[in-house]
Amino acid sequence: MEQPVQTEVWKAQTLQELIQILHRLFSSDKVRVEEVQALMESYESNPVEWMKYAQFDQYRYTRNLVDKGNGKFNLMILCWGEGHGSSIHDHTDSHCFMKILQGNLKETLFEWPGKKGTGAMTKKSERVLGENQCAYINDSIGLHRVENTSHTESAVSLHLYSPSFDSCNTFDQRTGHKHKVKMTFYSQFGERTPGATAVSQENN
Ligand code: SIN
Repeated sequence: MEQPVQTEVWKAQTLQELIQILHRLFSSDKVRVEEVQALMESYESNPVEWMKYAQFDQYRYTRNLVDKGNGKFNLMILCWGEGHGSSIHDHTDSHCFMKILQGNLKETLFEWPGKKGTGAMTKKSERVLGENQCAYINDSIGLHRVENTSHTESAVSLHLYSPSFDSCNTFDQRTGHKHKVKMTFYSQFGERTPGATAVSQENN
């Protein structure tokens, strides 16, 4: 008889500790989604710890690399000004964990478009994620778009992608047509990426 899988309960007091435990959990090739999600939720956001990564752009959300996860994952902080949002996109067959560090973000889930990619895309659900909550998605769940709908408050989120990827597909909500986009970092390890333009060609 198959044994139930034992998942450990991990808690992180600081961002540093969170990163250390993530390294440990991703050192094996088996990703236990609930375990990682609970760990990320356990970290109580402390802006002093992540401020140096939180670099905003006036016009678009930014992607700021925090840790390369020993080649097993990328951990990054995304900064969302008022009204900023991503396009509907897939996750290139990776796991995506998204924890809110500050503010609120609306996540809208969509069905994959049909093979021909014609016609309006079907919305599956939407929800607003608040501080310290951690969402999870992968391509078998569907596609999503993330938005900071506030006109007065910015938002900051912590994303973990495993394996890491540097391109994904975005989808036109009206037609379902897809478009491959390259994803770059606005800053890496707290330093502005050399040559990165403020206006990105990315997923927004
Ligand atoms: C998102 O999930 O909307 C953010 C995508 C990204 O990593 O740029």
